[in-house]
Amino acid sequence: MTPAENKPSPVWTRKDLTGLEDLSRQEIETILDTAPQFVAVSKRESGIKRVPLLQGRLIVNWFFEPSTRTRTSFEIAAKRLSADSLTINVQASSSKKGETLHDTLDNIEAMHSDVVVIRHNCAGAAHILAQHHDSHIINAGDGAHEHPTQALLDAFTIRDHVRRQREDSNATLDGIRVAIIGDISHSRVARSNVWGLTKLGASVILCGPNTLMPPEVGRMGAETTSNLRDAIAGADVVYALRIQLERQQKCLFPSIREYIRLFRIDNESLKAAPAHALVMHPGPINRDIELAAEVADGPRSVVLEQVSNGVAVRMAIMHLLVNGRAA
Ligand code: NCD
Repeated sequence: MTPAENKPSPVWTRKDLTGLEDLSRQEIETILDTAPQFVAVSKRESGIKRVPLLQGRLIVNWFFEPSTRTRTSFEIAAKRLSADSLTINVQASSSKKGETLHDTLDNIEAMHSDVVVIRHNCAGAAHILAQHHDSHIINAGDGAHEHPTQALLDAFTIRDHVRRQREDSNATLDGIRVAIIGDISHSRVARSNVWGLTKLGASVILCGPNTLMPPEVGRMGAETTSNLRDAIAGADVVYALRIQLERQQKCLFPSIREYIRLFRIDNESLKAAPAHALVMHPGPINRDIELAAEVADGPRSVVLEQVSNGVAVRMAIMHLLVNGRAA
């Protein structure tokens, strides 16, 4: 038996994971504290990256929007937990023939699904399904609303670095300052990170053009600025967001060149940040627009660590949802 198979599941009471707005600090920490055993599974020297915790369970990935990282991350996480997993090809599915989400899910559930991972362009889609169906629903991004698993893997990655920098395996995010830069309006990643990071004790400053800064973020507990230097001076983490051109209905900044001049994270603008600051991005990166290649591939970037940690954090979430309540 390995530690991951041995360990009793921490107590977890929720059926679904639809957002971080409703989770408590303790619940978020339970997820983060469950993930390291799964990091270890993925790094096993034997090369056998699998534990039987979800053996015989059926996990369905249901993605209505393009995704590479998140979808493959969930698929890999399911396989590493020994679950059966499948991805619905939405372009070739009955949704195209007018079937409602509820009807489709009723049919999936008639085939005895255990976990349904959904990405949808409408805010609230995962939440509504979670209220009316028995499967464990995981929100893999709903419109511009929330992307909880991304924010959890981000918090895990930051905490891991803080613990290593301080040589303290119990260090928390209390007092850590995170600057999130870019297209805040259209970013579910920014919203979930504000909820998650502030609950964990970090402070968040959001920075971008005023036209991409929605008024409600102030009420979520984050500071705001349109000055990049002010945002990243004193930041422990500089988090760049993708400019989501596909969600922008009208021209929200004068030109890409203007955006780059004011908001791009590159070696020059990073001079305003402390030497220890990490650089993060959820991917996919518009190289040399929001993040210069020299920084994306440079020593401060933890972008690929975010991706690796994503598998472990998603394994932790699926394990807790399915097995946590039985503990
Ligand atoms: C993000 C998303 O889809 O919200 N990407 C991701 O899940 N890794 C961010 C983005 O698309 O810009």
